[in-house]
Order: sequence, then structure tokens, then C-alpha cells
Amino acid sequence: MNQLGIGIAITGSGSATPEVTLDNYQLSQIVETSDEWITARTGIRERHLVGAEGSLRAIATTAAQRAIAMAGLAPTDLDLIILATSTPDDLFGSASQVQASLEASKAVAFDLTAACSGFVFGLVTASQFIRTGVYQNVLLIGADILSRWVDWSDRTTCVLFGDGAGAVVLQANESDHLLGFELRSNGTQNSCLQLDYTSQNKEIVKGVVVGQGTYRPIAMNGKEVYRFAVQKVPEVIEKALFRANITAEEVDWLLLHQANQRILDAVAQRLGISKEKVLSNLAHYGNTSAASIPLALDEAVREGKIQPGDVIATAGFGAGLTWGSTIFRWGRTS
Ligand code: ACO
Repeated sequence: MNQLGIGIAITGSGSATPEVTLDNYQLSQIVETSDEWITARTGIRERHLVGAEGSLRAIATTAAQRAIAMAGLAPTDLDLIILATSTPDDLFGSASQVQASLEASKAVAFDLTAACSGFVFGLVTASQFIRTGVYQNVLLIGADILSRWVDWSDRTTCVLFGDGAGAVVLQANESDHLLGFELRSNGTQNSCLQLDYTSQNKEIVKGVVVGQGTYRPIAMNGKEVYRFAVQKVPEVIEKALFRANITAEEVDWLLLHQANQRILDAVAQRLGISKEKVLSNLAHYGNTSAASIPLALDEAVREGKIQPGDVIATAGFGAGLTWGSTIFRWGRTS
């Protein structure tokens, strides 16, 4: 509990994924790969893809509506909406579009970009507004449509990603259920994983040249990112657990960014957390970037696996490079 006596409770979750799926067999018709390779190296069997007519706004809005309903709020109760995404429909930001779709007229809305760490960074950002007493009801959405930016001829990346959205509602509460966190960045490794802008010269008037271009598809050094994740993720979780004054044995659920089953297994092993406590749904969704943690959280809550009061250790990691962990108790229990 902070000096103002204001704590945080996470009171609702929701998620949304597109209906269209692409399995490993279908992928093997596009690039030289196989179901055996993808399953053994990643654990992924299929992913959901947003079609050409779909939008980030639509899936983010649906996930948000479900989270708001679970929290027992109306959209007009929201003070703040944070949309963690790297793939907005509008580069100026899609949070305001979601605010309009929700008719959350009182809420201020902005985007937050931290790739696959976006949800964890967003959770910590949202909590600061609550802890300072500025806002009471905050909606945090993690949503991405990476299929828009995947090079579908690059077998080293196209097998990994899927689309989706997840959301949570955070509310001011008497007891504090955000128990600890730690966030990190290392821009010196930025080139390991990029979706970067590439410019072409355009002379708009004699002597004045501006750059006009577009974004190149996702490029990743998979081995480097794998090494980084397996080393840094356990460290950051241990730091957050220390801040929370909680031991790894007291964690009920380990909820990592769903990038690769081998990463999930290695991190759990390093922390001494048993397999039964590791939440994993990446077989069906692949890596959905900022959506992966709230999507898996929402599924586990709705399946009745996660119960009010359960301690959840989360960690996001990815482009930036960025990584971070939060430790929280689910629900509104005192
Ligand atoms: N199908 C078949 N063969 C393949 C495929 C494929 N889809 N992709 C690569 N290969 C081949 C390679 O060419 C290589 O062949 P070679 O030995 O003849 O050169 C061989 O398989 C082994 O390739 P590696 O890259 O060594 O495979 P690895 O075991 O490292 O697995 C993977 C690759 C799955 C990408 C892994 O490195 C990984 O998961 N990295 C982390 C990615 C990640 O977690 N990203 C998270 C952040 S995402 C974000 O922030 C947006």
C-alpha cells in the first residue's frame, strides 16, 4: 500500500481473436517448413489472423467490452484507456478510435508502444495513475495484428506470429494487489528484432528533400532473442518477486509472453516453478505480441483456473529490446 493509501485491483479481463486460422500444414504450402519443425521448435500449431477487412480497433474494442463487463463497469466509468500496440490502424494512435467505439466519453486514451512487453509496461503505467489518486478506473488493452507486417516468404519469422487482443480493467482498491514490478530496456540490441521505417528521397522543391517510405517487414535474429529471453526473463521476475516480498514457491501461475514453448519451459525451470503452474496457449495463437499475456490470462480466468486471490507472475519480452515483470493478485479480494 502506498502513502496515499491507494491500492490496485485487477477486476476484469476480456479477449478477442479473429475466426480465421492458419495451421502449420497450411504454412508448409507457403514456405519450406513442416508441422514437425514448428511444433518441436516453438510449440505453435495454429494462429488466428485478421483478414483484410478487419481492424485493430475492432478486436481491441471487443476484448475491452468483455473486460469492462466482467469488472461490472460501464464504459462511461472509465477514466483512462491505454492501448498497448505496435500495429495501430492509425500511426497517430488507435486508442482514441477504441474510446469512440466504446463510447467511453470520459476517458482519456493513448497508445503505448513496447512490442511484446507492451502489456506489462502498460500495467505499470496504468498503476501509476491510480496510485497517485488521479484516476480510479483504467482500461488496459494489449492488441496486435502482426500478420500485416510479417514477411510471408520468410520461414524464420512467419511461422511465429498471430493476431489477437486482450484487455484488463484496473481499479483503485483498499488493498494493493499489484505486489511488485521491474521494467528494463536495452536499445543497444535494437537490431535483433525490428519493424523499421525505410525511407526514400523525395525532392518536394529544389534543394528540399524529404524521406517518404514505409515500414519493412519484421526482421529478427531468432537465436539472439532466444538467448536474451532465457537469460533476462528469469532475472527480471526474480527482481519483481523480491520487490513483492514473495518467493517463487508462492506463485500460483507463471504467465509469460507466449513466444515459444521452449522459452516458457526454460524460464520455469530456472525459477524452479513446476510445469503445472505455467499458463500456455501459444499452440493455438502463436506469438500475438502485446496481446499474448492478457489473452492467456483471460482464457485461464474464464476456464476457472485462475481464482480470486491467486498470485500471478507475468513477464513480457521482445523488441526494443524491452522486458519486464509484474507480480499481482487476481481479482478484488481483500
Ligand atoms: N521451418 C523449417 N526450418 C526452419 C524454419 C522453419 N520455419 N526456420 C528456420 N529453419 C531452419 C534454419 O534455416 C536452420 O537451418 P540450418 O541449420 O540448415 O541453417 C535450422 O532450421 C535451425 O534454425 P535456428 O534458427 O537455429 O532454430 P532455433 O532452434 O533457434 O529456432 C526460433 C528458431 C523458433 C525462431 C527461435 O530462435 C526463437 O523462438 N527465438 C525467439 C523468438 C522470440 O521469442 N521472439 C519474441 C519476441 S517477438 C516481438 O517482440 C514482436
